[in-house]
Amino acid sequence: MIEDSHPGLAAVSWRGDWDGSLLLLDQTRLPLEIVQLDCQELAQAREAIVQLRVRGAPAIGIAAAYATLLALRPFAAQQSVDSAVLRSIHTDLEHLGTSRPTAVNLFWALERMRLVIAAAAAATPTVASLGRWMLAEARKIHEEDRQMCHAIGRYGASLIEDGMGLLTHCNTGGLATAEYGTALSAFFTAQDQGKEFQVYVDETRPLLQGARLTAWELMQREVPCTLICDSMAAQVMREGKVQAVFVGADRITARGDTANKIGTYGLAVQAKHHGVPFYVAAPSSTFDLSLEWGSDIPIEQRQEGEITEAFGKRTAPRGVRVYNPAFDVTPAELITALITEKGIVRPVTQSHIRELLAGP
Ligand code: MRU
Repeated sequence: MIEDSHPGLAAVSWRGDWDGSLLLLDQTRLPLEIVQLDCQELAQAREAIVQLRVRGAPAIGIAAAYATLLALRPFAAQQSVDSAVLRSIHTDLEHLGTSRPTAVNLFWALERMRLVIAAAAAATPTVASLGRWMLAEARKIHEEDRQMCHAIGRYGASLIEDGMGLLTHCNTGGLATAEYGTALSAFFTAQDQGKEFQVYVDETRPLLQGARLTAWELMQREVPCTLICDSMAAQVMREGKVQAVFVGADRITARGDTANKIGTYGLAVQAKHHGVPFYVAAPSSTFDLSLEWGSDIPIEQRQEGEITEAFGKRTAPRGVRVYNPAFDVTPAELITALITEKGIVRPVTQSHIRELLAGP
């Protein structure tokens, strides 16, 4: 059963039975407007992922898991599952998998749904019972993420001490996950424990997930925070205001190389230079042990308008050449520790990662 103790922050939810609809909080409208999208068709859900209406690696995975039910919905009036139904779902899932390339949670969730679809189709002849199996699995993925976030928060909070200045990049809170977040979960948990600290929030160009979403989430929970431009982080570290950096991840390879929002790698270099610990918080669903090196992670390239225009207003000369990678890769050597729901990996090595992920 999914309990949402913070209804205002529910990034993803499912309404109704297996033939219901996918509700998404439209994150492109935050923080000025709270708009909930009611996706009844798979194309709407895919568009929402592509346009970052739902975003953040775990939330993308959860949304995709529920969205697979929208692939079954056109067959709701049909009694039995035949090969045409399965072929159609398979094609739809393939297409959904092309929505965003970097966060591995999308592919991880789709694979789990594929396995359940295959098992259900073998066991049950009706569309309705296939739908119920699929909804149960999507809800399980959702609930597991909620629990992983709380566990990450407990491990992360153990690294936070009274009086610390912390810095974060992009958005890794309830909006990006099932509930509490990953890096932000460490802050929320430390706050619940009565610790006093200050968070510097990178605005996170070009789409301002830090300014629009992280500052909003921290303020809603009354965590003391200060917004800075990305380019100010090194100066804030030099001034001695930051004792640890906490970020999330979109994909972590077997050796610990980590893809995360563009700008993360630069922050890690700055943290190293200033002797500031650099922590990456992520659930096990964000690890991709099939890849060893970060250079093998596909990096999403996004439209130039995200850089040449700021919220509808042109800010660069027409015709200028633009490069807009949405993510970068931080090599394992720059990461002080990985914080997962199973524990803390420190130092970040292939064997430590394998050992921890193989454990309970
Ligand atoms: O492009 P986005 O907004 O989906 O990028 C999100 C991030 O890079 C997050 O840091 C990452 O997904 C971790 S979310 C817990």
